[in-house]
Amino acid sequence: MSQKLKVVVLISGRGSNLKALLDNAQDYSITTIISDNPNAGGLEYAKQYSAQAQVIDPSCFAKKSEFRAELLKVVKDCNCDLVALAGFMQILKEDFVNHFFGKLINIHPSLLPAFTGLHTHQRALAAKESKHGCTVHFVDNGMDTGPKIAQASLEILANETEDSLSQRVLKLEHKIYPWALNQIAKGEISLVNNQVKYSSLAEKSAQANNFLIFK
Ligand code: GRF
Repeated sequence: MSQKLKVVVLISGRGSNLKALLDNAQDYSITTIISDNPNAGGLEYAKQYSAQAQVIDPSCFAKKSEFRAELLKVVKDCNCDLVALAGFMQILKEDFVNHFFGKLINIHPSLLPAFTGLHTHQRALAAKESKHGCTVHFVDNGMDTGPKIAQASLEILANETEDSLSQRVLKLEHKIYPWALNQIAKGEISLVNNQVKYSSLAEKSAQANNFLIFK
């Protein structure tokens, strides 16, 4: 049997997506969890799941560039197949993105290209959108601009609040992120010449799960 895809997950906070990735790791294995925040709630999951975790705290470095160099070195040393960002609140610089391009993925809580950046739920409500959701995408050097893998969406309700909307979208995130990783791990989804390619199995699975894909 071929080896499972080795995934490193980068977090900064509560880690609910990390938990979903740990709970649904069928075709991949999370070999290391890295946090830039020593107090990240998600580090508890590393303990619960006996996963290897490492904190790289920017405040321990004299310069941000030194922190970034260490982060790049540590992730390189993991020799992983994929780096999954799950609420990682650092902007990754070109050297990191270029090194891992095609192996670096993120989940963003909006229907990209709408609402890149922060406070997406609040902004979707303020813009009176009828739909909102989340996107799994490969990371490039832009802000949430890399090739999109899949989206899950929902209808915004009449009495929706920022809190209710973020909770509802988060449930979708917990389904689509592990789904995307498992599809990549099985080779059903890949990035070829900057274009996301889907096997017919991946297409069928996306359809069955109500995920939008980008053929
Ligand atoms: C999620 O909404 C994710 O889409 C965004 O940051 C949040 C992280 O939440 N990138 P959690 O730490 O996974 O609970």
